[in-house]
Amino acid sequence: MIKRYIYGKPIETEAVVKTLAPTEGTVPYLAATETEEAYVFEYDMNAYDRLYGLGENIRGINKRGHIYESNCSDDPMHDEGKSSLYGAHNFLIIKGEKTFGLFIDMPSKVIFDCGYSHKDQLKITVTSKDFDLYIIEEKSFTAIIKAFRELIGPSYIAPKWAFGYQQSRWGYKNEEDLKKVVAGYRENHIPLDAIYMDIDFMDNFKDFTIDPNGFSDFKATVAELKEQGIRLVPIVDAGVKIEKGYDVYEEGVEKGYFCTNEKGEDFVAAVWPGLVHFPDFLNKDTRKWFGEKYKILLDEGIEGFWNDMNEPAIFYTPEGLQEAFEKVDEIRQKDNIGIYEYFDLKDSVSHTGNNPKDYQRFYHQVGDQRIRHDKVHNLYGYNMTRAAGEAFETLEPDKRILLFSRASYIGMHRYGGIWTGDNISWWSHLLLNIKMMPSLNMCGILYTGADLGGFGGNTTEDLLLRWLQFGCFTPLMRNHSALGTREQEAYQFTDLESFKNIIGIRYGLVPYLYSEYMKAALRNELYFRTLMMDYPEDSFAENVEDQLMVGESLMVAPVYEQNARGRYVYLPEEMLMIKFKSLTDRSYKIMEKGHHYIQVELEEMVCFIKPNHFIPLCSGGEYIEALDENHLELCGFIKDEASYELYQDDGFSKDYHNPAHFTHIKVSKENKALQVTCNKSELSFTLNLH
Ligand code: GLC
Repeated sequence: MIKRYIYGKPIETEAVVKTLAPTEGTVPYLAATETEEAYVFEYDMNAYDRLYGLGENIRGINKRGHIYESNCSDDPMHDEGKSSLYGAHNFLIIKGEKTFGLFIDMPSKVIFDCGYSHKDQLKITVTSKDFDLYIIEEKSFTAIIKAFRELIGPSYIAPKWAFGYQQSRWGYKNEEDLKKVVAGYRENHIPLDAIYMDIDFMDNFKDFTIDPNGFSDFKATVAELKEQGIRLVPIVDAGVKIEKGYDVYEEGVEKGYFCTNEKGEDFVAAVWPGLVHFPDFLNKDTRKWFGEKYKILLDEGIEGFWNDMNEPAIFYTPEGLQEAFEKVDEIRQKDNIGIYEYFDLKDSVSHTGNNPKDYQRFYHQVGDQRIRHDKVHNLYGYNMTRAAGEAFETLEPDKRILLFSRASYIGMHRYGGIWTGDNISWWSHLLLNIKMMPSLNMCGILYTGADLGGFGGNTTEDLLLRWLQFGCFTPLMRNHSALGTREQEAYQFTDLESFKNIIGIRYGLVPYLYSEYMKAALRNELYFRTLMMDYPEDSFAENVEDQLMVGESLMVAPVYEQNARGRYVYLPEEMLMIKFKSLTDRSYKIMEKGHHYIQVELEEMVCFIKPNHFIPLCSGGEYIEALDENHLELCGFIKDEASYELYQDDGFSKDYHNPAHFTHIKVSKENKALQVTCNKSELSFTLNLH
């Protein structure tokens, strides 16, 4: 049951799709205090209470012990010390003696002090008097998640090609660069489905333009690569370059589609293109206008986009810069600059980017209300992506378009996925990637993944290989890196065979991974789960944060430490371990419930199958559309019988619920002989059951 408590006059966020009648009276579980500008909710935790949720965030799956702030932030240096990442996802489950979920629908800062100030106290500060608080009570932990997912509506579904391996790098400038990447993959027979075009493909970083010096005939390049099974995915940035003659800028100014400053003039900030205006995505006319701009690239044959810098990221504002200059001038007058003045000097310059003060300098027009940005900050990236998603409904009504964003708020999951932003080539960020997946899924964000290999810093061959071994399971499997870092396309390294093998395994797994994704999206379920969700009675399973359940049959236990040639794994029940060297070179071992140390060499990948479960595998290929999914290998662990629901469609259309897409496969063991039944005659199977 979900109870909705309304405080003041909440700003409409459209995070939820169901309008619940308000509940009167005091909120259960939480002690509420009203201060001058905020509401504070407190909950006394006992020693064993755990906290789950908060979507895209740092640290563990159990959020207890740290302080988190919902405040969409562009932070490429995110480490354990930080409190906010790119998304704001205010859904939390308190699990313990009392188990309940809560969702705070408020688009500005919400602070979740999860036992940071006081070890045994959860303290939530909502920095506004106007918000909705939902309390979710169900009979189990997973039922709470499901109820919440039903409240916020269905998850975005990507086209099937976007379940292939994808290569990105900031720095591919022109068609030669892109073709070099294609050749690197195709010549080495390493599968690939897409190449991303970062800001360099644009003409001077202007959205929806193509650099004429880099591309002689863009449409022809798009078509030529598509012939080879490769899609190009361009970036769209939030800031629109201020430049006379640039139509997007001129139209935006003329129609009043940009955010304004206090005086009502178009607000100016600086991002990649230099000075920009920010489209006012909270204004529905702006959304419609900006969304239609994607047609420029759709008309060139483009079928996917990534929306970036939409927290929005601000490098500086002229006002902020002016204040910094003044500070520098003031300090410069002194003869002897004291150490604190020196720190001040440094900070005044280095804090010009993403400065909280700048987020108070601009305004949105929402209906007849003018709202200062910081009051609705967390809605910006969401509404940029919504602008595109809504436009695709009319521009491409019958076709799925790939779309994901950097910033997000709950509700955006209906329009697109996210990638987890600018991570670093650190082993700890591989582990963070693993830990972040279930909490994102809890918030409906299913199409997601991290920059494999790490965005900032120089990757190493072993880090990339290990990261790809986990990336094989993330719906978005994209290798991306920053300008100036070591080149990290899979073909740049020594052991090409291993890269080919690991990425090849992903393609073999696609029948399973795609089925699991579709079922999770269509049924408001989780694609990635913690062990605790599947084994609620197992008190040890709850401690495990570096193994995940993927879909209904599999558990993964990635290796995430350098030079490790194996790892400890906890099996909550007897399982079949599959050790892959390549898609076809595999070994199997049935392992007992309990703790094990398993050997996993650098070129190997392991996963585990639950008893009476199997996974459908295909024979692989170099891109998604080349896969033969009519003949499947059923690979699994059968004690008596198992059934599986396979999902297959054309990968583009939107008639998701068509019963023809669901195939029921049943395997049973009768007198030691295996029987397979299936309701689709065109499918044939090879059995590999243990
Ligand atoms: C941001 C994005 C990153 C991109 C870069 C240049 O840092 O997060 O993915 O490569 O901008 O566009």
